[in-house]
Amino acid sequence: MRKVFYVLHVTNYARQDIMLKEKHATEIEAILAKYPTKRSAVMPLLYVAQQEYGFCDEQAIREVAELTALDPTEVKSIVGFYTMFFEEKTGQYVIEVCDDLPCALRGADKFVQHCEHKLGIRAGQTTPDGKFTLRTVMCIAACDRAPVAQVNREYKYSLTPESFDKMVDELK
Ligand code: FES
Repeated sequence: MRKVFYVLHVTNYARQDIMLKEKHATEIEAILAKYPTKRSAVMPLLYVAQQEYGFCDEQAIREVAELTALDPTEVKSIVGFYTMFFEEKTGQYVIEVCDDLPCALRGADKFVQHCEHKLGIRAGQTTPDGKFTLRTVMCIAACDRAPVAQVNREYKYSLTPESFDKMVDELK
């Protein structure tokens, strides 16, 4: 089964001693109130954790498991399945380029190589300055406008090497 494709804008990497349930009590309460069971709120609560910590590591998983009354292994399997949840620290900007078959037929593979060259990293890596993470993803439902990427949650359509370079330079 394919992974879902969008990503979160990551705002805060600093780990805090304060737990999610204390720091985001109001938001968490509001999320839990929307669902008939706590476990149904696992995805939005993972968003909260990722927004707070920058990624969903063991601590985040444990906290979300506690909030949802799920086993941590169940939460971990969700994090591992969906590409919008990060298991490791990412850069400030997460660039996700689709290299699925329809996009590959429109030159996505070569485009990814260009992205790697421009950023000086391979897909799956983060630049040493922590600014950019480059990832390849499955279809993001914009096949007709390939090469296509998402930068954090924002779509970038019909990319060219030139437009990619310009975008990266502007984000630096
Ligand atoms: S295959 Fe790339 S957006 Fe659909």
